[in-house]
Amino acid sequence: MNLVLLGPPGAGKGTQATSIAEKYHIPHISTGDIFRKNVKEGTPLGKKAKEYMDKGELVPDDLTIDLVNDRLVQDDCKNGFLLDGFPRTEYQAEKFDAFLAKNGMELTKVIDIDVAEDILLDRMIGRRVCRACGKPYHVTNMPPKVEGVCDVCGGEVYQRADDTEETVKNRFKVYKEQTSPLIAYYEKAGNIAHIDGAGALDTVFAAIVDAIGA
Ligand code: AP5
Ligand code: MG
Ligand code: ZN
Repeated sequence: MNLVLLGPPGAGKGTQATSIAEKYHIPHISTGDIFRKNVKEGTPLGKKAKEYMDKGELVPDDLTIDLVNDRLVQDDCKNGFLLDGFPRTEYQAEKFDAFLAKNGMELTKVIDIDVAEDILLDRMIGRRVCRACGKPYHVTNMPPKVEGVCDVCGGEVYQRADDTEETVKNRFKVYKEQTSPLIAYYEKAGNIAHIDGAGALDTVFAAIVDAIGA
């Protein structure tokens, strides 16, 4: 099962991805998480990505595409994968289609999670994430059991550098201009499902499972 999660910043892609990956036994691949890991480790890729991420801009396409292609040929993707935050531009989507065709793979479903912007802003300003495993929390909606400590892995729970109001607003703008055209792109391909992401976690998850139909 090859899945893509699409949706604006704060829609709940990362949150839902954990449950989806667990249910279908496929790896959760978040380009944002991979970039943040590289930033933390100070790798050359991380240094380059940080310049863009801190401003809420997209990391250049070619860097991102190479990263994903390298990841998808690893062994744990043999039975499928769940991409979170990729593709994010039409160029990335076209290159991704070419990669799938070349490897005899097909996209099972694109899941587009949609939420109104005022709800998104609150979600993102209140978001905290685990530095070690990337699990998202929220100061009021979903706090960790022990403040500052990840429930799953015991890692440090912190606030992302790009979750400030100013950067978040730019990320919305970037989403609208560069990523939202992908909805029409996948509409044309006929394999997109639209999910209302404003409800409770379990309600959203049930709608996703229903849309996947397996
Ligand atoms: P990335 O990490 O992908 O960020 P994003 O797309 O902006 O999305 P978020 O992670 O902010 O939101 P989410 O949908 O995962 O929401 P979450 O589940 O955390 O990308 C970061 C940066 O990396 C980009 O700006 C770019 O620079 C770079 N990048 C990444 N991919 C790239 C690519 N392909 N090309 C180029 N550059 C790329 O939930 C948000 C909050 O809401 C949490 O606090 C959560 O607890 C809460 N919440 C979730 N669901 C609910 C619910 N149902 N009810 C109440 N609260 C909820
Ligand atoms: Mg995320
Ligand atoms: Zn963790």
